[in-house]
Amino acid sequence: MAQQLDILVIGGGPGGYVAAIRAAQLGFKVACCESNPYADPKGEPRLGGTCLNVGCIPSKALLHTSHLFEEAGHAFASQGIVVGAPKIDVARMLARKNGIVDQLTGGIKGLFKKNKITFLPGHGAFIAKAGEGWKLKVGAEDVEAKQVVVATGSKARHLPGVTVDNKLVCDNVGALDIDAVPKRLAIIGAGVIGLEMGSVWRRLGSEVVVLEAAPDFLPMADADVAREAAKILAKQGLAIHTGVKIGEVKVGKKNVAIAYTDKDGKAAQLDADRLIVSIGRIPNVEGLNAGAVGLKLTERGQIEVDDHCRTNLPGVWAIGDVVRGPMLAHKAMEEGVMVAEIIAGQAGHVDLDLVPSVIYTTPEIAWVGKTEQQLKAAGVAYKAGKIPFLANGRALGVGAPEGFVKMLADEKTDRILGVHIIGAGASDLVAEATVAIEFSAASEDLARICHAHPTLSEVVHEAALACDKRALHF
Ligand code: FAD
Ligand code: NAI
Repeated sequence: MAQQLDILVIGGGPGGYVAAIRAAQLGFKVACCESNPYADPKGEPRLGGTCLNVGCIPSKALLHTSHLFEEAGHAFASQGIVVGAPKIDVARMLARKNGIVDQLTGGIKGLFKKNKITFLPGHGAFIAKAGEGWKLKVGAEDVEAKQVVVATGSKARHLPGVTVDNKLVCDNVGALDIDAVPKRLAIIGAGVIGLEMGSVWRRLGSEVVVLEAAPDFLPMADADVAREAAKILAKQGLAIHTGVKIGEVKVGKKNVAIAYTDKDGKAAQLDADRLIVSIGRIPNVEGLNAGAVGLKLTERGQIEVDDHCRTNLPGVWAIGDVVRGPMLAHKAMEEGVMVAEIIAGQAGHVDLDLVPSVIYTTPEIAWVGKTEQQLKAAGVAYKAGKIPFLANGRALGVGAPEGFVKMLADEKTDRILGVHIIGAGASDLVAEATVAIEFSAASEDLARICHAHPTLSEVVHEAALACDKRALHF
């Protein structure tokens, strides 16, 4: 007899595990299946998906270690801290990172127990409609569920004809496990992974060259921020070439040769000891048996959903990286909560226009809402308040004077439309901006709120004041 469930969640990443927890809180009988190859000490697949195993969390651990390494080598002396030239023990850095992954992925299993969610190790696949619900297989086991939440996530897109062995040629999985500092590191794709992983290895001593196909650098960011980021990252030594066309990639025994044409159409070659390919991600629908039950996909291979993550099949929902919208962990989690609450008869909503973006370079880059170029293209009349971190005492105190906060507000109504930050603490500062925009705040609202002194948040405050041309410290 097949196991009977209210809800089966397929995939235990941030979308899936959060959907399972929220559904269990709402009183449903829930199971979540997961089939990744990252085994825990019990030999079971780890929960947490891409984010916890090979994404957000391990990358931020490496970014932190490499940041401290750079500070020790370059910033300590200016503050009177005298140490010798630091050395990096890559094995220990990776062990620390792996320890954090162990702790957090194990923690999700603990949360499942606490919430009485059944964990089903194994690959989930649709079999057929069964009454009001669905019959599925998880591994060898039959399961029947009234509702199914597909949260199968995404995997790295590879270059056609270039085999990723995760040793010489890495995607995100190998990039997070490089066991020695490569002398020359090539990266294809100057997106979020390229910049974050490029920063890690550049700080640790690699010569990093990033080849990017798009003519513009960071086209999704506000153009002002993208320009500032390009300037700062180049000064740090990250060589970024935009507008290139990748040709043949020859993988030798110990090195990789990448032929490409540069932005002027000139043939060039990049020789490297390692290559990271970070050219975006593709949705995971493999082995779901979507076709057999008629689950509709988009042209891009994502599961087609409406604004509330309903698929074309009754009782089947899809969330996170496998559907439209930004491929971000917090977006996946919000969709998980929304779907569980809608299944429980409550209201649920995720505003995809208000999902904050963060790039964890130094300085950090973060934004929410519309960019200046989007407002111009839409013909919206706006005003801008822009304040450099250089004008902030705390930023100077912590040795991080680079960057700025730029606030964009509607010219007539003063409603905040977008906030763009490049600077220390941007990943946390963007939360205030997100709350403000969610609550339809005007720049004057933020300008009239008392911000603690001395904090980096004062730069956001001053940017709000600057929208009305009354900044106090700039
Ligand atoms: P996933 O996390 O991909 O989880 C899906 C899970 O489903 C996987 O574990 C997979 O094994 C499992 N699965 C797939 N098919 C089946 C099946 N049929 N049966 C059973 N299980 C199945 N986002 C951020 O917000 N902040 C960051 O800092 C950040 N950093 C990142 C760094 C890197 C290097 C990468 C690669 C990504 C990063 N992301 C970041 C993106 C983030 O990891 C994803 O947006 C997020 O993990 C998506 O969550 P998800 O639940 O939709 O999918
Ligand atoms: P990305 O979409 O951020 O960047 C890919 C880049 O590769 C783009 O600039 C694209 O123009 C370029 N590109 C595509 N094909 C190319 C080719 N053939 N040659 C050269 N360049 C090419 O994708 P990335 O960096 O792989 O990351 C995947 C996703 O993971 C991100 O979009 C993001 O959603 C998520 N992520 C989020 C992070 C965060 O929130 N801090 C960190 C890392 C990843």
